[in-house]
Amino acid sequence: GLNYLMQVAIDGPASAGKSTVAKIIAHNLGYIYIDTGAMYRACTLIAHDNNVDYGDEKAILNLIDHSTIDFKQEDGEQKVYVNGKDVSIDIRTPEITENVSQVSALRSIREKMVELQREMAGKHDVIMDGRDIGTTVLPDAEVKIFLIASVASRAKRRFLDFQEKGIHQDLKDIEHDIEVRDYKDSHREISPLKKADDAIELDTTNLTIDEVVAKITEIIQKKQKN
Ligand code: DC
Repeated sequence: GLNYLMQVAIDGPASAGKSTVAKIIAHNLGYIYIDTGAMYRACTLIAHDNNVDYGDEKAILNLIDHSTIDFKQEDGEQKVYVNGKDVSIDIRTPEITENVSQVSALRSIREKMVELQREMAGKHDVIMDGRDIGTTVLPDAEVKIFLIASVASRAKRRFLDFQEKGIHQDLKDIEHDIEVRDYKDSHREISPLKKADDAIELDTTNLTIDEVVAKITEIIQKKQKN
């Protein structure tokens, strides 16, 4: 139809390159990009800043109900705002990264975020990345990609990422963090990280960013012609 919206879901484990390629594709195709991991990180930050236990579902939900979480495009970068404050850096600290799996496993928090995600996806062509986009958030997405890569290559990418930002963290520690988070994200009860039956799996271990972007763009454009 004329008002047909395109939905692209990109799921996969931590540091597989989802957000990097999703941002480029969104820019190239004029889609909006939604980083759902950033939303769970924002929830975790809200708990942290209010000294609420990461397992206290009721208290966290109450705080979130009284907060705003927004995305804004600024100088070609996507910024995350909580209650009007730019928290784009704050949501990526080791403290938040270590505890986001616990907060994102809470049922009512997930329900709230999924509702927000569907609302955002209903207004514009969208490319959304996360863990449960193809399985739960947008089960009817036209394109579903499941990005994977070896732990070693994901750790190396994150290491270089950190280095660029002037943060030093041991490669071994990063590898360990990735393995722990993969395990928690894949074994939680609600919407665990899992490839949707109709998702296309792409192993990026030996691919460059440009190659991954090209492959996914080709898949999207094939769908658009149908
Ligand atoms: O993509 P990321 O590493 O920024 O995500 C942070 C955490 O949020 C991740 O460990 C699991 C959780 N998450 C989730 O449960 N569901 C999503 N759709 C996205 C992220």
